[in-house]
Amino acid sequence: MIVAIDGPAGAGKSTVARALAGRLGFRYLDTGAMYRALTWLALERGISLDDGGGLGALAEQSGVDFDEAGRVFIAGYDVTSEIRDARVDKVVSTVAAHSEVRSVMRDRQQQLAALGNGVIEGRDIGTVVAPSAEVKVYLVADESVRASRRQAERPGIGADALATDLKLRDEADSARMQAAPDAIEIDTTTLTIDAVLDRIEALVHARVGTV
Ligand code: DC
Repeated sequence: MIVAIDGPAGAGKSTVARALAGRLGFRYLDTGAMYRALTWLALERGISLDDGGGLGALAEQSGVDFDEAGRVFIAGYDVTSEIRDARVDKVVSTVAAHSEVRSVMRDRQQQLAALGNGVIEGRDIGTVVAPSAEVKVYLVADESVRASRRQAERPGIGADALATDLKLRDEADSARMQAAPDAIEIDTTTLTIDAVLDRIEALVHARVGTV
């Protein structure tokens, strides 16, 4: 079974998807981390962020790996913390917008999905990567709550700068941020993590009964 979790930055995807995978004993795949790792490598190598062909070729040559502990590797570097830096936040949407990059990422993500039993989080999982996922969830939350969650994760950045960055990223990602027609939307603004997990787990169990 595949559980697809999509939604904008700060809606709670990573926290929820990771914990849900733990509860269900499923693999966890953070597709945003794959785009972030590629962005980090492109910055490191000085590849133009407008060069879709060059970035697609870089993605092809440099696969992103995850270890059991969730650490993220690309081209032999452990980039687990670097991919959350503001310099990556600011430009990752530009890298992720190139069709050449997306097709490489989509193929890799589909190979990982084919391993079965996984919770996959991103923007286009329910629509493009795993349109036949048995459970599709689209998480949303009020903008101010999303900004304050990001602030908690990135204490070094001012609140205003962070809210602006989040807004710009939402705009840049908006073309890919469509909920699948059969996704269940959950507004996490006032819910605890456990409450969100309980709701998704109930969807999973309901679905298990039907497959
Ligand atoms: O979820 P995140 O903030 O780590 O994602 C980083 C960026 O990658 C985000 O701005 C949009 C992009 N992304 C994407 O285009 N498609 C995905 N499946 C996942 C992330």
